[in-house]
Amino acid sequence: MGSAKVMASTRLLYLLNAKATGSITALHRAGCSVCFRRHVCSSPSRLQSCMSAWVIDQYGTNEVLRFTEEVTVPIVSSASEVMIKVHAASLNPLDISMRGGYGAKLLKLRRAPVSVMDNNSEFPLILGRDVSGVVVECGSKVTHFAPGDEVWAAVPPWKQGSLAEFVTLTEFEVSHKPKSLSHIEAASIPYVANTALSALVNAGGLCRDSSSNKRVLITGGSGGVGTFAVQLLKAWGAHVTVTCSNNAEGLVRGLGADEVVDYTVGDPAEQLEEMEKFDVILDNVGGDTERWAMGLLKPWSGAKYITLVTPLLLNTDSMGLLDGTFHTGFTLQMKAMQNIMSRGVFYRWGFYTPDGPALDEVKNLVDTGKILPVVEAQFPFTQVPQAFQKLEQGHARGKTVVRVAEDDDRKAEELVQNIRTETAESEQEVQETVKQN
Ligand SMILES: NC(=O)c1ccc[n+]([C@@H]2O[C@H](COP(=O)([O-])OP(=O)(O)OC[C@H]3O[C@@H](n4cnc5c(N)ncnc54)[C@H](OP(=O)(O)O)[C@@H]3O)[C@@H](O)[C@H]2O)c1
Repeated sequence: MGSAKVMASTRLLYLLNAKATGSITALHRAGCSVCFRRHVCSSPSRLQSCMSAWVIDQYGTNEVLRFTEEVTVPIVSSASEVMIKVHAASLNPLDISMRGGYGAKLLKLRRAPVSVMDNNSEFPLILGRDVSGVVVECGSKVTHFAPGDEVWAAVPPWKQGSLAEFVTLTEFEVSHKPKSLSHIEAASIPYVANTALSALVNAGGLCRDSSSNKRVLITGGSGGVGTFAVQLLKAWGAHVTVTCSNNAEGLVRGLGADEVVDYTVGDPAEQLEEMEKFDVILDNVGGDTERWAMGLLKPWSGAKYITLVTPLLLNTDSMGLLDGTFHTGFTLQMKAMQNIMSRGVFYRWGFYTPDGPALDEVKNLVDTGKILPVVEAQFPFTQVPQAFQKLEQGHARGKTVVRVAEDDDRKAEELVQNIRTETAESEQEVQETVKQN
């Protein structure tokens, strides 16, 4: 039922999108340049210094989220940067963790090495890792984008996030948004896509041309990363087995999973041991999974286990940057050595990697219908805390999206409708005049 709802809402979103795309095209044709928001214009850095955003001023629970209209607009400060007006953003488990301070030490070092000892230098901090929106300004050396382009991107966790009116990224982190998706649908994909691609390609050694004879197991296949990875691997021709709860089976089968193991009934390891062994395992669950999953890989064949649940940031938070990094590196090396020597299988960690060109490939798969967005829930920009609450409850079935600029989208629709009506009326008048003459 749940999965049917998700798929149905996906289809519905497609229909809405077709309308929205039509509107934008019509706007362009009508030669209109519109400025709807209080102080939003085509080049905000020149005329506007503040923007709306959800920020945190300290780490903690949901209460630390604060709406403000007084965040400094992130201006284009280097030649390769683009400023994007955010239309939709989506949430990931990382947002919940970062709200609570996860990764603070390492991310602070990445943001501003000189202020790493300053306890509060990262605040006010904007969360939100996915963006779908429109380019409003480009640095002088930007070659792939121009103002007005519809784009999507995953915002690296060391940069100010997308729960804001504007976000600024380098052009290498950005990609043209799939034409077949609305901003809401598009915002559900970039972060999980960049993560899944980085894990499967860089750590897993898979690609479009090498996956057709591969057996892949995805644990936690019903969440954000899982629902994307299932579709990507099916598009590449792999055989995909998924672990998930009973009520997510319809969803993952609908996305193409060949075999599904319900981890809530009995021991998933026992059920999986009955199956042919795997070439690659993508672990989205972590914890105990790692203990039994290694034995499911084809031994002495170069098979790989990749987990996305890694202790790096937890260790740097609790032990400090040097000890945490050293301890983490040591743990990884030990596990990798043990597994390669005892079974001939690779033990690896997967990480999100910002990668605009990778999103270009995903765009093609989306526009050819091979990858669908899976939007489980949508929230208006006024209800960001509620969106966090939803995510925090767990049991995700795809993604939770925040509509950031819906007023603009709605008003654009209305304007286009008015233009259409006026055009039709004047055409009719012209025809009547011609007839009379
Ligand atoms: N290393 C990185 O750079 C990186 C990047 C992205 C994500 N991650 C991590 O990767 C994990 C997955 O991310 P996500 O965005 O897909 O999370 P998500 O959207 O929250 O999805 C997790 C999914 O796993 C299911 N699940 C929970 N326990 C399970 C179990 N024992 N067996 C099978 N399925 C189970 C959940 O549904 P039910 O509880 O209803 O079964 C849910 O559908 C998270 O821990 C995230 O923090 C790491």
